[in-house]
Amino acid sequence: MSDLSELESRASAELAASADEGALRAWNTKYFGKDGEIPTALKRVGSVPPDERKSYGQNANRIKEALSTAYNAALSSAKERALEQSLATEKLDVSLPGRPTPRGRLHPSTRTLRLIYSIFADMGFQVYRSRDVEDDETNFGLLNMPLHHPARDMWDTFHTTTPGVLLRTHTSPGQIHVMRELCPSPIRVILPGMCYRYEQITPRSEIMFHQVEGLAVGRGISMTDLKGTVIAFARRLFGEERQIRIRSSYFPFTEPSIEVDIDWPKEDPNADRLTKGTGWLEIMGAGMVHPTVLRNGGYNPAEFSGFAFGMGPERITMLRHAIDDIRQFWANDLRFLRQF
Ligand code: PHE
Repeated sequence: MSDLSELESRASAELAASADEGALRAWNTKYFGKDGEIPTALKRVGSVPPDERKSYGQNANRIKEALSTAYNAALSSAKERALEQSLATEKLDVSLPGRPTPRGRLHPSTRTLRLIYSIFADMGFQVYRSRDVEDDETNFGLLNMPLHHPARDMWDTFHTTTPGVLLRTHTSPGQIHVMRELCPSPIRVILPGMCYRYEQITPRSEIMFHQVEGLAVGRGISMTDLKGTVIAFARRLFGEERQIRIRSSYFPFTEPSIEVDIDWPKEDPNADRLTKGTGWLEIMGAGMVHPTVLRNGGYNPAEFSGFAFGMGPERITMLRHAIDDIRQFWANDLRFLRQF
């Protein structure tokens, strides 16, 4: 019993001397913690002589209740004091300028890609995503370039360590994937994506760049449809006054094949340099889908025809913003990127 009253007066005195929340919590651990003095005193009831046991237990429980009530009261008034103190000393200066939230921007290529998507969306073209890692057969063979075909030299290729697996050199293999997926339905899609070529990096050529492929397949599609689509696109992108010029060209997967130029405004001080004095600027390769390619996609060339085109969004971005070095696109130089 005397131990209990000694414990009570000691604990009360220490509680009264605990000035802040930290001290109070330390006090609580000492007296009410897992092996604290109060639980220990309560456990001791078993070793008290039987005739004293009842009053020992009652006394111990009373002390426990009283101390715990006192502790809770002391803790909440300590918290209140701390809050009042911080309100009194810490001031909020609402006139300070705010911290700017850094804002990201879209990459210039992404901006051009989105513009291209929206123009073609208005003409009913859907976006189809093909793959960056291709097999030799789809990148070349099914596009009418069997092994050792000389036209393969037009695309210097990154090969992987797995034979026959490569990084696509153009978006045209996507034509095969779309046709095989959608055959025998008519097709009107664009296929954007990154292409890779094993080339010397110069201000005009990079080893990776985007292309946007276009593909339309259906009954009775002709060169006139290709021409109309390209003119509509060029005028939306470069201005209503634009004229286009079509030159004959060669790609193994289109027949006939063409290259499309647009006239460049003579008012532009860069016009001469860009067009090398001709007034015309190449914007895409295109043509009517080769019958062999249609057949490889599952379409009967006697019944179906189609056109395809491929263009380079980085080149288009360079024209729109007078960027003179293609290496800027992947150099991650913020001084360049922040201008868009
Ligand atoms: N794939 C060709 C290239 O990379 C471009 C092209 C696409 C040409 C579709 C014709 C038709 O150069």
